[in-house]
Amino acid sequence: MSKHFYGWFVLGLAVLILAACSGPAAGGAPTEERTETAAAQTAAAEAATETETQAATEATETEETETEEAETEEAETEEATETAEGAASRPVSFASDVLPIFQANCSGCHGNSGGLNLASYETLMAGGRRGAAIVPGDAESSRLVQYVRSGRMPPGGRLPDAEIQLIVDWVNAGAPNN
Ligand code: HEC
Repeated sequence: MSKHFYGWFVLGLAVLILAACSGPAAGGAPTEERTETAAAQTAAAEAATETETQAATEATETEETETEEAETEEAETEEATETAEGAASRPVSFASDVLPIFQANCSGCHGNSGGLNLASYETLMAGGRRGAAIVPGDAESSRLVQYVRSGRMPPGGRLPDAEIQLIVDWVNAGAPNN
């Protein structure tokens, strides 16, 4: 009887211990699993968000690069058109482009009364009291260009930009007697 009781007692104890051990373990396992699953899901969601953000950033960058490329192409096309137009237009002529500007705006004062005479190519190139008015090929250094650009000449009012440009182009082309 006591042997039996002892046996049952041990068995009961063993069951109790097992239950005590496996209890929290059995209860803990699913919790841990859930936590792990949740963590994995969060990580996956974060990874997905990161991938999306990266993809979006890359897409934006690609778009920007394409826009820049398009703009560069546009600028190049414009440049090409300008070059074609410049090459197609005839060179500036002294007799038919530049001299008429002088006759209309300058000759009243720069005639035969001494100083710079703007009545002809020869007298223009001979210069004035301050020396050469034109430095062939170098409009920036030519006094006449400096004066018309600054508006000092003619004294009544600045020449239109298009006329100044004609004089500049003619000087930079070497100031030929054409
Ligand atoms: C209303 C009279 C008048 C008109 C018009 C006039 N000028 Fe003059 N210009 C002068 C006088 C006066 C001087 C000398 C004083 C000076 O340098 O400001 C002069 C000087 C100059 C000089 C320096 C000449 C030198 O002796 O070295 C240049 C270059 C010149 N003029 C260019 C022009 C051109 C180009 C025009 C026409 C677009 C023009 N001028 C129209 C009165 C005139």
